Amino acid sequence: MAIRRLKDMEVKGKRVLCRADFNVTLDKQTGQVDDDTRVTAVLPTIRELQARGARVVLCSHFQRPKGKRVPEMSLRPVAANLSRHLGREVPFAEDCVGEPARAAVAKLKDGEALLLENLRFHKGEEADDADFARQLAELADVYVNDAFGAAHRAHASVHALPRLMPARCAGLLMMKEIDALAPLLAEPRRPFVAILGGAKISGKLQVLKHLLPKCDAMLIGGGMAYTFLKAQGLPVGKSLVEADLTGEAAAVLEQARKLGRTLLLPLDHVVAEKFEAQAPYRVVPADGIPDGWMALDIGPRTVERYTQEIAKAATVVWNGPQGVFELPPFNAGTFAVAKAVAGSQAFSVVGGGESVAAVNEAGVSERISHISTGGGASLEFLEGQKLPGIAVLES
Ligand code: 3PG
Repeated sequence: MAIRRLKDMEVKGKRVLCRADFNVTLDKQTGQVDDDTRVTAVLPTIRELQARGARVVLCSHFQRPKGKRVPEMSLRPVAANLSRHLGREVPFAEDCVGEPARAAVAKLKDGEALLLENLRFHKGEEADDADFARQLAELADVYVNDAFGAAHRAHASVHALPRLMPARCAGLLMMKEIDALAPLLAEPRRPFVAILGGAKISGKLQVLKHLLPKCDAMLIGGGMAYTFLKAQGLPVGKSLVEADLTGEAAAVLEQARKLGRTLLLPLDHVVAEKFEAQAPYRVVPADGIPDGWMALDIGPRTVERYTQEIAKAATVVWNGPQGVFELPPFNAGTFAVAKAVAGSQAFSVVGGGESVAAVNEAGVSERISHISTGGGASLEFLEGQKLPGIAVLES
């Protein structure tokens, strides 16, 4: 079904409530925004609304205050960051509903923008509460959802609220995300290579099952690989294994065989005795993880093999680190995959916090076709789930 777009909306002189995902990170020392990727990603929508004479009321969740006012989880630093980007002050309302919000919105002139306080300071947000949604609806004439990162949450500001607002649509970032991700599930250019990683197979099982029939090759790394190795009867030492899921892992291997898909597991491993940065390590073959040692990264032969597969791809999607990315030097495999994805001619999509951090730290983000601002949201999208925040925007 078609999703309503910003260009089709009448916004001049209207109060437009724009739901964004400003769930950014703050610098511990200064308390200011340190990674503003999620702020800059929404700027095109804000600028377009301002240029078209809308009165822009921005709102977002920030961290998980669980329905309480937690001063360290205030969105105020984001208002300062937005002001810098937009070159004029973005006023901040001390609450997202009630008198502070109403008064701030009433002062807005055409082309101006303000930011409301953290939606999650109210229990009604996560409860998808109709009354809380009504209070938000009173603040606006038009609803724009640009919070792809929160689209998998059936929370009031992305689910109950838009249903109360007939004039609703997706923002530019939301459409950019959907336009990049949807073809991966529908008609990817082939060969289509999916790279999956991360600590646990349990978090990736649905996406594995959903992508396997759609892709030509699947490359697996990270902690989740060792549940597959265990399922094959290979030694895993002290590596992370979800023993109750070896049956599921074996079923995925069987599904790949039946479908004729290439499913690659690590050919070698970087192993250590301790789970810590700079722990002494060795490189061992696929079947050579010694007792008492654990695999913390993919080895150089694996990097070479995965790089060959990535180089042949016309479409690549990557979600999940290939090793213990936060403990150097066990981030080398993940960096190598980041560089291989960036170096390929493929249309490449990277999602998930650690994979996105890896392409940023490897300095190759400019060469990735699409970096998703959604962690859980991009994963659930690739699992083929209908995200509540997107479904409600369909006309
Ligand atoms: C994210 O960081 O992935 C989104 O902002 C959603 O946050 P949440 O997991 O706290 O709902």
